Amino acid sequence: MCGIVGYLGEKKATDVILAGLEKLEYRGYDSCGIFFHVEKTNDFITYKDKGRISHLINDFNYKFDNHLGIGHTRWATHGKPNRENSHPHFSFSTRFAIVHNGVIENYRELTAKYIPDVEFASETDTEVIVNLIEHFATELSIEEAIRKTLSLIEGSYALLIVDKQNSNAMYAAKNKSPLLIGIAPNGITLASDVMALVEHAETYIPIEDKTFVSVFASDDKFEYAMVDIIGVPVIPKPLKMDIVLEDIGKGGYSHYMLKEICEQPSVVRKIMDKYLVNGNTVIPDAIVKLFQNTNRIYIVAAGTSMHAGYVGKYYFEHVSMIPTEVFIASEFAYNQPLIVDNPLFVFISQSGETADLRACLLRVKELGHKTITITNVPTSTLAREADHFLEIFAGPEIAVASTKAYVGQVTILALLAYIVAKRKPFDLHLELSKVAIAMDAVIDNREYIDNLVKDKLTKRNCFYIGRGLDYYTCLEAALKLKEISYIQTEGFAAGELKHGTIALIEDGIPVIAIISQAHIANNTRANIREVMARGAEVIVIALTAVSDLTDDIVLMDVNEMLTPLVTVIPTQLIAYYSALHLGKDIDKPRNLAKSVTVE
Ligand code: F6R
Repeated sequence: MCGIVGYLGEKKATDVILAGLEKLEYRGYDSCGIFFHVEKTNDFITYKDKGRISHLINDFNYKFDNHLGIGHTRWATHGKPNRENSHPHFSFSTRFAIVHNGVIENYRELTAKYIPDVEFASETDTEVIVNLIEHFATELSIEEAIRKTLSLIEGSYALLIVDKQNSNAMYAAKNKSPLLIGIAPNGITLASDVMALVEHAETYIPIEDKTFVSVFASDDKFEYAMVDIIGVPVIPKPLKMDIVLEDIGKGGYSHYMLKEICEQPSVVRKIMDKYLVNGNTVIPDAIVKLFQNTNRIYIVAAGTSMHAGYVGKYYFEHVSMIPTEVFIASEFAYNQPLIVDNPLFVFISQSGETADLRACLLRVKELGHKTITITNVPTSTLAREADHFLEIFAGPEIAVASTKAYVGQVTILALLAYIVAKRKPFDLHLELSKVAIAMDAVIDNREYIDNLVKDKLTKRNCFYIGRGLDYYTCLEAALKLKEISYIQTEGFAAGELKHGTIALIEDGIPVIAIISQAHIANNTRANIREVMARGAEVIVIALTAVSDLTDDIVLMDVNEMLTPLVTVIPTQLIAYYSALHLGKDIDKPRNLAKSVTVE
């Protein structure tokens, strides 16, 4: 995780870097730092500390002309979040400064072998990189010293390096962790996410693994060069910067999460516009054939995206008749199941950067299997490295808790399952249009949910129960509530609760039941009675067709297959308003980061 930004150009570097770090804060926000060159004194300044970017912006002095700098926002992996462990880090003589996103696996071995006498100032793995660079720079050119270091380090990294002896240059390299370069005639920006480049670049390039980049200024020109680790030039094609600034603002909402919840009907409509044109699907034939010709689909994902994967499994098995399994990415990578002949691997990831998935993708590619990524970020690593990818078109998702990307993923999975199906069970365009309207209805009425949860979700624990598709929504609903409100919440198959966990039900424990499937509605109602008999405070979310007069949240009816797209909306609002009433940091919950680029 972590986010990095570097700049060399005509603008004030600290402005570009601090604004960029704010946009990257979703990647980690326990400490931060900045390092920049002061024109007037030809000196370098470092500010770093535990805390958020607002601290870095508000509590330090930037009244200096400066055009070169690097910055970092951290999600701690090695060592506590404190000033010492914050980036930048420095080489032994302090000649080189570095910011790093990633994990160096062999840092102990490298330290022992090459720089045993160097005393590190922090507990981080990063210091080994910058010290090795200075160690090799005594005999090699800077570029050679960095490339030699890169050839030795194992693990993931996106790096920015500044040599205090040259304020007209900046160096960068990447492996596994994301890094992009933004190009404009008046300056070059490097960052972990395209969002930090938007205002400063006309074109950009997602940098490939094991690439080394030098950025330099000469005669008022700002240029870059890319080579691979052995020094062979790499000549990528820059992409046009096509991200709109408004898409990454809060747009008048108090939190990104609320904005993103409210955007979900338009995400469904946008996916319909993109993939269902005049009633026909425009998903590339090559992708459709992959699904039609496979014996088994293996969905690999993590967290919320994995919950979308479960819904996808239901769709592929019930609509397309293709056996499908869902795997937790971090388990699949090292505990691989028996794979049938002719499998198809589907990676689902909002960010397209999740390291657990990347490890699986690399393994599956080694085995020669076919792969497709479903992601919100078309320039991401997983999109680039799979055989094919499908874009979710949810627009930038900034809140750490994923909402609209989930809805986008489920919509795409429904669409894929439908296209691949030999017999179309309904008119998907029509049914998705109804879904968007039903979502709008819940969102328009969100104040009701605000009032409903105000006094109800005050206990330490909470349960979501449901069956079938509703069970999958319960898993997602529970994750959302726990990650932003810190109420320990479990999503349970309603019928399973009595096999042990019901022991936790006591007076006043909230149990939220979801009922959207007619054929199992009565069974779930029986489970509701069981928990009520033991004192649970029950909230029922039901579709109109299966609702009772006493139900708390009644939703418009939609096609039974597509109910997860509607039932999830009140659960996201329950999570949002509970966290709001508890005074939690909704968009940046503790200990988390949006893009999980460490395994
Ligand atoms: C929860 C959440 C996470 C992510 C998970 C995978 O709200 O966002 O559980 O779903 O970290 O991330 P992606 O989808 O980017 O691979």
